Amino acid sequence: WLASAIGLASAYLFGSVPTGYLAGKLLRGIDIREHGSRSTGATNVLRVLGKWPALVVLLVDVFKGAAAIAFARWFFGQVFTLPSGTPPSALDPRSWMDWGVCVAGLAALLGHALSIWLNFTGGKSAATGLGVLLALSWPVGLGAAIAFAIALAVSRIVSLGSILAALTAIVLVCGLEQPLPYRLLVIAGGIYVIVRHRANIQRLLAGTEPRFGQFSPEPR
Ligand code: G3P
Repeated sequence: WLASAIGLASAYLFGSVPTGYLAGKLLRGIDIREHGSRSTGATNVLRVLGKWPALVVLLVDVFKGAAAIAFARWFFGQVFTLPSGTPPSALDPRSWMDWGVCVAGLAALLGHALSIWLNFTGGKSAATGLGVLLALSWPVGLGAAIAFAIALAVSRIVSLGSILAALTAIVLVCGLEQPLPYRLLVIAGGIYVIVRHRANIQRLLAGTEPRFGQFSPEPR
């Protein structure tokens, strides 16, 4: 149990790295949570700080999610591997590892959205979620990224792309041959990302969500 807690806490800490917040502080001396959509994600960094900081934040946030999964795979691989010569058990350590890795993926999403370094505030976990997906099951991650790109190209609204990408990931993980823990992680994580976008959904319905690159009217 202690080992599991350490593995999950590490994934949470990977997600918690406050990339967008640091960009605001280091480049402009501002708290990005007081500007634009108040999110620490790359979209808000684009709005407030410009395209190069946004690109760096996007890449680091995707990397955080992938790194959390890679670390959890390695860590739980050590924890759940039986010493050679151990007789086969009804409890397959491989499946325990899958469960551990998937809960770690969720912990990374929570870390990004509710960062311990930012009083449990943060972003909407779309980029970190993409990193988690790519490391967990690249076809699902690729499908979600393509859905995002198409939605963004057509609508020019990032939040719509993120929401459709989360829905696509859920559909793909259920449609493709994937282990049960992967399915549950992607369903729970996808719903979480959509819930984090609730203010965006309200603005989308009201027709007031800003388009890509458009300055936002400082919505709360
Ligand atoms: O990933 C976040 C994006 O979908 C929306 O960001 O700042 O417009 O709320 P934002």
